[in-house]
Amino acid sequence: MSDRNYTIDTGAPSTEPERQYYYMKKAKKLVQAASNQAGRTLSFCITTFGCQMNARDSEKLAGILLEIGYQEIEDEQKADFVIFNTCTVRENANQRLYGRLGQINRAKRKNPNMLIGLCGCMMQEDTVVEKLRKSYSFVDLIFGTHNIYKFAELVYHRIKSGQQIIDIWEQSDQIVEDLPSERKFSFKSGVNITFGCNNFCTYCIVPYVRGRERSRNPQDIINEVISLSKDGVIEVMLLGQNVNSYGNDFQNNPTNLEKPICDNFTDLLKEIEKIEGIRRIRFMTSHPKDLSDELVTWMAESKKICKHLHLPIQSGSSRVLHMMNRKYDKETFLTLVHKIRQAVPDISLTTDIIVGFPGETEEDFQETLDVVKKVRFDSAFTFIYSKRTGTPAANLIQTTSEEEIKDRFNRLLDLIHQSSSEDSARDVGSIQEVLVECVNEQHPQLVTGRLSNNKLVHFPGKDSLIGSLQYVRLIEGKGFYYIGEQVC
Ligand code: 5AD
Ligand code: SF4
Repeated sequence: MSDRNYTIDTGAPSTEPERQYYYMKKAKKLVQAASNQAGRTLSFCITTFGCQMNARDSEKLAGILLEIGYQEIEDEQKADFVIFNTCTVRENANQRLYGRLGQINRAKRKNPNMLIGLCGCMMQEDTVVEKLRKSYSFVDLIFGTHNIYKFAELVYHRIKSGQQIIDIWEQSDQIVEDLPSERKFSFKSGVNITFGCNNFCTYCIVPYVRGRERSRNPQDIINEVISLSKDGVIEVMLLGQNVNSYGNDFQNNPTNLEKPICDNFTDLLKEIEKIEGIRRIRFMTSHPKDLSDELVTWMAESKKICKHLHLPIQSGSSRVLHMMNRKYDKETFLTLVHKIRQAVPDISLTTDIIVGFPGETEEDFQETLDVVKKVRFDSAFTFIYSKRTGTPAANLIQTTSEEEIKDRFNRLLDLIHQSSSEDSARDVGSIQEVLVECVNEQHPQLVTGRLSNNKLVHFPGKDSLIGSLQYVRLIEGKGFYYIGEQVC
């Protein structure tokens, strides 16, 4: 689908990213003229819904908007360019967007120069774009997940033409490197390693909106991490829907890479470990079916991989896992957890769990509770199943009432809270390294940082500590966070 009717620009390079830099230059002139006319620098505000991948994409959008002369502000009602980077994993995310659009339209009436842009996973759904086209004509720019790298070009054409632009691609093989990006934190950064997903879990819309899995060239990833490290980054988070299958697509696409310096996730981690200046390495998300023994062994040996693994289980019932097309069962998951805990005893495990998958019985749910009791996750993202049109599970009949699902959901939450607060007590008294992230909003005499295991710690300190690693004694465990004191 494409409503781009902008003229072919013969001066524009045909190669990327040169083409986008060309459009950034041109857009900059237009933005400068508009700022002069307004008597102030035009501003933007990006709201991100959903996962870490979207958060990283938003940093890329911000980098381009800064490059073309906008300044970032936090109040979307006052911004000249408002962008919603959307998520469509659950239905309520869609409803939230429509609500936000209603509000922002009122602000746009007061500021007719305001531009509204929509992007992200929700835009890859035909029904959504149809609805926006019909009922939200005040939206200026709509683009999807596959052409996000064209943002500069799209913005230029929107400003130049004054027309609404809708540009959604069904797929893309291209991974465009070296575009600007504005990091939220100066000392830590997400780094994409794969895009898309091949797993087709039956409840999940991601493979349809993000496309087939594509791994970035390892050398490009390494170069990015080196340049981040030179820029003061000490912690990287490697991002992908399923980082464990990094490199699987290289075999199918030999033209893409002649001789990759590494073609699997563990080898990539080993290369990143060598990069000077990087002190901490995180990654997400790991699919249990692809987590290799080599990775477990390397996690135990590595000096930089953090003591945290996010390992979504989704359900504890082998029957439901089969219906979900997860390709592991309860026992294999428990064996995997055992293997990981043996290799890395102090690792923190977190997970995702869906309650109320169609056909889930009380017995199935008891299996989930049983796994939660056995594994004692440090925390869990819990979701009520949300029907996503177009996925195989959308054709299944829901046999459980909403009330019953809510009740299961609450029982699950209680159990997770109970075990995570009991377990957080075990680390009280220990001294651990904390990466300080910010001044605590409620108590400005405290700073907030993260332990290697990803738990938060608040301790007395000044903003000059932000971005540094500090030793802190944990003095009180509060379940999801600790109170600590700095140890000099
Ligand atoms: N309903 C509820 N939760 C879902 N997730 C993905 N799709 C759905 C859905 N249709 C959850 C899974 C996944 C997380 C990112 O979102 O638990 O791991
Ligand atoms: Fe969705 Fe499954 Fe892919 Fe995760 S692995 S993005 S849950 S299809």
